Amino acid sequence: MLKIDLKGKKAFIAGVGDDQGYGWAIAKALAEAGATILVGTWTPMMKIFTMGLESGKFDESRKLSDGSLMQIAKIYPLDAAFDKPEDVPADIRENKRYKDAEGYTIAEVASAIAKDYQNIDIFIHSLANGPEVQKPLLETSRNGYLAAISASAYSFVSLLAHLGPIMNKGGSALSLTYMASEKIIPGYGGGMSSAKAALESDTRVLAWEAGRKWGIRVNAISAGGLKSRAAKAIGFIERMIDYSTANAPLSKGLEAEEIGSVAAFLSSGLASAITATTIYVDNGIHSMGIAMDSPAFNT
Ligand SMILES: NC(=O)c1ccc[n+]([C@@H]2O[C@H](COP(=O)([O-])OP(=O)(O)OC[C@H]3O[C@@H](n4cnc5c(N)ncnc54)[C@H](O)[C@@H]3O)[C@@H](O)[C@H]2O)c1
Repeated sequence: MLKIDLKGKKAFIAGVGDDQGYGWAIAKALAEAGATILVGTWTPMMKIFTMGLESGKFDESRKLSDGSLMQIAKIYPLDAAFDKPEDVPADIRENKRYKDAEGYTIAEVASAIAKDYQNIDIFIHSLANGPEVQKPLLETSRNGYLAAISASAYSFVSLLAHLGPIMNKGGSALSLTYMASEKIIPGYGGGMSSAKAALESDTRVLAWEAGRKWGIRVNAISAGGLKSRAAKAIGFIERMIDYSTANAPLSKGLEAEEIGSVAAFLSSGLASAITATTIYVDNGIHSMGIAMDSPAFNT
C-alpha cells in the first residue's frame, strides 16, 4: 500500500495561531503521517494560542483519525518580520504583547530549534501579513507595501536561510501562496499581490540554491479561499468562496484538510522529484478565463 509515512521526521510549521487556518490543517496532516510537530506562533498570538490549547478549546479539532489528540512538541514565539534581536524596534520590544516574550526573531528561533531538536526535515511557511491589505495598490504607502513584502515574502527567504543548515538532505520547504500573484484580484491590496508574486519567484530561485546547497526541495501551494483569521481580515473572503463555487471546474467548497494532504505529500519522499513548483489546490479556479455566472451567459 502506498502511504505517506513521516515517522521519525521533524516538521517546523511557522504561522499557526488557532485551529482555523492552513497552518493548523497542515500540522494535523503531518502529525497524522507520524511527524513530530514544532510550531512557530506569531509573538502577539502566543499567549492566546497556548492558553487555548491548554484549556482544551482546540481538542475537538486536534483529534486525529485514531482518536488521539495531535501533539505539538514545542511552540516557539516567532515574529518573522525580524531576523535578529537588533532589528526589533523599541516600541515593539516594549509593547505589552512582546515584552515578556524572548527569542522570537528568525535567527533566535532557528538556533533554539537546533538546540532542542538538532535538525528538521520539513519546514512549512504558512504566514502572511499586509497592514494595508484593504487598500488598493494605488493607495498603498511605501511602508505598507514594504511591510507586506517583508512579513509575507522575505520571511520565507530568511527562515529558509536560517533553517537550511539544520535541514536534513531530502527535506522539504513549502509556502502558501494565492493566485492574486498572477491574476488581478481586486480587493487583495496593500502590496499583498506583489508579496505573493515575490514568494512564487523566490520559490524557484530558492529551489535551485537550497537544492544545490542542502539537497532540499522548495515548493509553494497556491491555495483557494478559506475563512481563516487572516482571510477574514481582508474583508471579502465569503464572496471569493461563493465565486469559486459558482465558477470553478469543481463546484464545491474547499476544506483546509485538502491543503493539508497535499502539503503532507509534498513534504514526503513520495514527492522526491518535485521542486521549484507552485501547485494549485483550489478546485481549479485559477484556470478559468471567464466567469460562468456572469449575466452575459444568462441570455
Ligand atoms: N485563507 C485563504 O483564503 C488563503 C488563500 C491562499 C493562500 N493563503 C495563505 O495561507 C497562509 C496562511 O494563512 P491562513 O489564511 O491560513 O490564515 P491564518 O490566520 O491561519 O495564518 C496566518 C498566520 O500568520 C501569522 N503571522 C502574521 N504575521 C506574522 C509575523 N510577522 N510573524 C509570524 N507569524 C505571523 C498569524 O498570526 C497567523 O497565525 C498565508 O500565507 C496566506 O496568505 C490563504
